[in-house]
Amino acid sequence: MTTLERTVGAEVTRIEGHDKVTGTALYAYEYPVPDALYGVAVQSTIARGRVRSVDAGAALALPGVVAVLDSGSDGVPRLHPTDDPELSVLQSADVAYRGQIVAAVVADTYETACQAAAALRVTYEEEAYEVELRDGDPHIFVPDTVNAGYPGRTEKGDVDTALATAPVTIDATYTTPPEHTSAMEPHATIAVWDGDTLTLYNGDQGPWMTAGAIAALFGLPEGAVRVVADHVGGGFGSKAVPRPPTVLAALAARAVGRPVKVAVTRQQMFTMVSYRTPTVQRIRLGAERDGRLTAISHNALQQSSRLTPYCEQTVTATRMMYAAPHRRTIHRLSQLDVPTPSWMRAPGEAPGMFALESAMDELAYALDMDPIELRVANEPSVDPESGNAFSSRNLVACLREGAARFGWAGRDPRPGSRREGRWLVGTGVAAGNYPAITWPASATARAEPDGSFTVRIAAVDIGTGARTALTQVAADELGVALDRVTLEIGRSVYGSAPFAGGSMGTSSWGWAVSKGCRALAKRLDEVGGQVPPGGLEAHADTTEDVRARKDLARHAFGAQFAEVRVDADTGQVRVDRMLGMFAAGRIINARTARSQLRGGMCMGLSTALYENLELDPNFGDFANHDLASYHVAAHADVRDVEAHWIEEEDDQLSPIGAKGVGELGIVGAAAAIANAVHHATGVRVRDLPITLERVR
Ligand code: MOS
Repeated sequence: MTTLERTVGAEVTRIEGHDKVTGTALYAYEYPVPDALYGVAVQSTIARGRVRSVDAGAALALPGVVAVLDSGSDGVPRLHPTDDPELSVLQSADVAYRGQIVAAVVADTYETACQAAAALRVTYEEEAYEVELRDGDPHIFVPDTVNAGYPGRTEKGDVDTALATAPVTIDATYTTPPEHTSAMEPHATIAVWDGDTLTLYNGDQGPWMTAGAIAALFGLPEGAVRVVADHVGGGFGSKAVPRPPTVLAALAARAVGRPVKVAVTRQQMFTMVSYRTPTVQRIRLGAERDGRLTAISHNALQQSSRLTPYCEQTVTATRMMYAAPHRRTIHRLSQLDVPTPSWMRAPGEAPGMFALESAMDELAYALDMDPIELRVANEPSVDPESGNAFSSRNLVACLREGAARFGWAGRDPRPGSRREGRWLVGTGVAAGNYPAITWPASATARAEPDGSFTVRIAAVDIGTGARTALTQVAADELGVALDRVTLEIGRSVYGSAPFAGGSMGTSSWGWAVSKGCRALAKRLDEVGGQVPPGGLEAHADTTEDVRARKDLARHAFGAQFAEVRVDADTGQVRVDRMLGMFAAGRIINARTARSQLRGGMCMGLSTALYENLELDPNFGDFANHDLASYHVAAHADVRDVEAHWIEEEDDQLSPIGAKGVGELGIVGAAAAIANAVHHATGVRVRDLPITLERVR
């Protein structure tokens, strides 16, 4: 079926690794752009109301200040309406949340711009605001559709009767806090106008899609905006679509007629570039005594801003994980005077599966059944809601193989049964899954007379290893050594391509690269391998191929195991080891895939123990907006995290057979840890993060 056998699967080191560690790889803010000015955003200090006045006198008096912009400024371009109102930067005096951009300063140095921003006097008409997510509020509603187009609500059978008559039931509510992406590289943009053409050097997960969105915003034809994102220092979803600071850079550059650089500070990131919604999730399970589920009900409440009803797909994993004749899943949304939440690694699946997989552990205890056997007993033969077959589903293999490697056999399930000195020790398991998504993409492959090859695609490498994986795909399809192929990525002008999001990058881009290289190889054959002086080129687009695929349920699966120690006196939790066993189709690069999976698991550990945006209702804002007060797992927390995978052949995905590994590793990780904490202590922590006071 495929020729991907020479380098695909190998432990190839990152092609750009040397450039990165020697500091020669350019990130958005570092491009040498002559004559650039510095833009600094000024954020609202009220949670709701209107800007009454902006007194720019003191700011403009500072030497080097070029402009102060607010929604009333003459030079500020009027933007076209967009389906993301967060991007309507400086278009109105209305304030929808604390931290929204209400003005900006442009100056000849960054320091001057900061000083001027601090000198601006903004006055407001303040209104009463509401920022707390409270179940029962009358404005809460069920959206028809949620993020990615999933239905807001699904129902099958008669859940209420099934729950009322089930011999064993679980009814529990789990909460997860708002969390922040905090990518290593804060968001940054340099905007350069040339007539009606705009170039954006942008920290970006999707250069082609950003270019289209910004062009629409400025009323420009497709192609008038070019995005450059050669290297990106992480995103975790926060750079998947353009954010207000990118728009601000473009708008300010337009207004002052010179290039403008905007760097978002670490503190500003916490309100300007989205966050993960908090959730309140009620799960009800009904089961027969043999463990077979008769009913599953999952109801998730979450928040969005007043600006737009973004609703995360928190219950979608529950729709396909386990068989049960009676099922109901509902999203509910509360629109508050808060910044708009958006995608953060496995949006929906990560918090949703914390709840479901905790509830499954609770059910295993209620049934006196091994939690792995409980999951195996509820393995569906087809997707329980759509009725579609799975392209491949190896959850059971992951659970079994993971259990063997972790050393699950012989575990005494009684909580508190293992004590080592002052430490209570426990183990936990949880399942995970992430949809295997593939979008159309286009690529161009070129052969040069000197025997080298260049492949261009508007893919982006946000630290995942995508550039390296795609080079492997290209080299294998062309049948040449890796060092003869150069992958040029990160530029919108290379053609239509999806973002590095939804774990679809490698599968989507890889298909286009594979198709382009095959077409080029065929042309090379036709000319007897003799590349003409001007080179030889082939273009590929996978739109029709992706469309022609069968209707199947395509998902990657995982089983997560954790061993924790809990201090019997203080409640301190240490995660001694984690082991993930995954099934994600063909692994293109063993080294970078393992890194992705382990990274996801570490982020899950971080979710389980630390991450928590604390909302201060007195100000209507997150109180912790730096990495000193927003805690993430550090090296000392990550002791022993292993990721493995089973060999999985799935010919219903794409010719490269990959499912994607970017998000899979985080799903279920927090539940495995919470379940291990319960096993260690007997305390069921249903609210993340698992802090000391919740364990004791
Ligand atoms: Mo990922 S949160 O889909 O960029």
